[in-house]
Amino acid sequence: MQTMRKQAGASDPEGFDAIVREVFAPIYPTIAEQIVAKTQKTKGHCLDVGCGTGALGRAIARLSDLHITFFDQSPEMIELSMDYAHEENIMRRSDFLIGDIHHLALQDNTMDLVISRGSSPFWSDWNRAYQEIFRVLKEGGHAYIGGGFGTAKLREEIIQTMRERNPDWRKGFANKLRPEREALPKILQDLQASQTNIIDDASGFWVHIIK
Ligand SMILES: C[S@@+](CC[C@H](N)C(=O)[O-])C[C@H]1O[C@@H](n2cnc3c(N)ncnc32)[C@H](O)[C@@H]1O
Repeated sequence: MQTMRKQAGASDPEGFDAIVREVFAPIYPTIAEQIVAKTQKTKGHCLDVGCGTGALGRAIARLSDLHITFFDQSPEMIELSMDYAHEENIMRRSDFLIGDIHHLALQDNTMDLVISRGSSPFWSDWNRAYQEIFRVLKEGGHAYIGGGFGTAKLREEIIQTMRERNPDWRKGFANKLRPEREALPKILQDLQASQTNIIDDASGFWVHIIK
């Protein structure tokens, strides 16, 4: 699982930002509601891994009193997250970190909630990345990692719009991730979490972990 993958958005931050605003925007409030309902985390610290423009972390911030650490390997994405956090008046409970999920520069047991949407397909080593996420979670903390669209209807609409823009969009996506998905049960078992759950339905694919 040491393959290099093209980093979403890294080559065209403005184009990625436009797609998030024009196409993906409705999914974030829906996913944020689902995460808060499932995890019941509304206070403390939340880490948004591979935050992109910070859309999910900001949606979580709107629903909670959580302090959000926006984390991405792309400085351009972190800059966009900062601009939006400023616009949305959440700077006093936001911080920003540039880095790679495989070497997370955060202390053990510091996060109440770790969220990550649409980033894991680009991670080269899921075992290492999941270990890093688990390490920074507090006891009783939750992680919600995956690539969902919120609902099956939103998923269908977005796939259709994206295919109108680019007919090859996401073609063969599930097959590309097959080795990682097959390795996931063992990766999760090795974490020795108090609970893990793989959610794979018509709205998308998520891994829910409770430390
Ligand atoms: C498809 S975007 C998703 C952005 C955002 N979470 C969203 O849902 O709109 C994937 C993001 O993951 C980031 N990323 C990819 N690999 C990463 C890694 N190893 N460590 C940190 N961030 C990474 C990319 O820079 C990009 O911003």
